[in-house]
Amino acid sequence: MTEKKQIILRTEQLKAFYILEMHGTQKIVKAVNDVDLTIYENEIYGIAGESGCGKSTLLKALFNDFVPPLRLVSGKLYYRIDWEKEIDVTTLSPEELRQLRMEYISYIPQGSMSALNPVLKLKETYKDFIGSHLGDQSREEIFELAYKQIQTLGLPKNILDLYPHQLSGGMRQRVTIALASLLKPRIMIGDEPTTALDVVVQRGVIQMLKTIQENFKNTIILVTHDMGVHANIADRIGIMYAGKIVEEGTTEQIFGDPRHPYTQFLINSLPKFGDKNVRHSVPGSPPSLADLPTGCPFHPRCPHVMEICTQQVPEFSYPDEHHKVACWLHSAPQAAIGEGKHE
Ligand SMILES: Nc1ncnc2c1ncn2[C@@H]1O[C@H](COP(=O)(O)OP(=O)(O)OP(=O)(O)O)[C@@H](O)[C@H]1O
Ligand SMILES: [Mg+2]
Repeated sequence: MTEKKQIILRTEQLKAFYILEMHGTQKIVKAVNDVDLTIYENEIYGIAGESGCGKSTLLKALFNDFVPPLRLVSGKLYYRIDWEKEIDVTTLSPEELRQLRMEYISYIPQGSMSALNPVLKLKETYKDFIGSHLGDQSREEIFELAYKQIQTLGLPKNILDLYPHQLSGGMRQRVTIALASLLKPRIMIGDEPTTALDVVVQRGVIQMLKTIQENFKNTIILVTHDMGVHANIADRIGIMYAGKIVEEGTTEQIFGDPRHPYTQFLINSLPKFGDKNVRHSVPGSPPSLADLPTGCPFHPRCPHVMEICTQQVPEFSYPDEHHKVACWLHSAPQAAIGEGKHE
């Protein structure tokens, strides 16, 4: 993160809620709640957090994929498609969006390795995929493109003649990633691509993502709850809690100098080589996103809770370049309490 990089995707106070109508009452699940993200070209940005904190919803929002009951409530989402200017993609037509997808930004959804069509050989899946995005191409051209990519990514050559069920889980996941990278998108979004794979297979998938990013010099936004995977692959990490990014920094900052008590719990729960002490997971359980506590959403579980934490959502403070944290321990609570007192 020393050289200056171009911004490729940016959000401003993004709010994406599930709005459910039930028996005449409305339930609002605040899954993405005021998120400001700035993602640079040619980086791997990791998003971490416990189950249900809104990671997948954030990725759907970044892909501009708002399917009811999910709604974009407020905020902005910009892509830098053209180096001259950013485009607010929430204003694009469905056709304009379709063109951006897979070519500018691709998305590997959670559990997608089981999404390959089971009755088609992979070469037919490639053909359908290429046909729907690149229009009329001959079978030879399509297979040449497919074979070339498979070779570049180090996948076995015969793979195109196989059906998905003939592949191991790890190989299926690699094929899904290969398809998502086929049109060399500037941004790839991956939702838990290594989850449900054993550690050795995970390593292969991580290596493949790194190879893609190095070859194409593109950007990967990667969600996983596994901090070990982030340590291996991410350049920067955003820690998500209850729909918010509560800390962000380079991988070195997050692991070497975690500031938010929640981040500290996540890091301390990682097993360490040779350490026989019992690892503690985060105490308590996450709040319901339909009924958030007042103030800092982490305060009911926080060992350092102060009065202000129960009253006001903390603003970001910036302990170092690239590093930001939303926690009253770092935001001069005395001053904030003073300010909150004018009546
Ligand atoms: N279609 C939906 N309708 C209503 N609520 C939903 C829907 N999908 C997700 N949610 C809720 O939104 C919140 C965030 O879910 P999300 O799937 O984004 O979390 P996550 O961090 O990806 O979790 P996991 O690690 O388990 O994949 C959760 O409370 C979830 O129950
Ligand atoms: Mg998820």
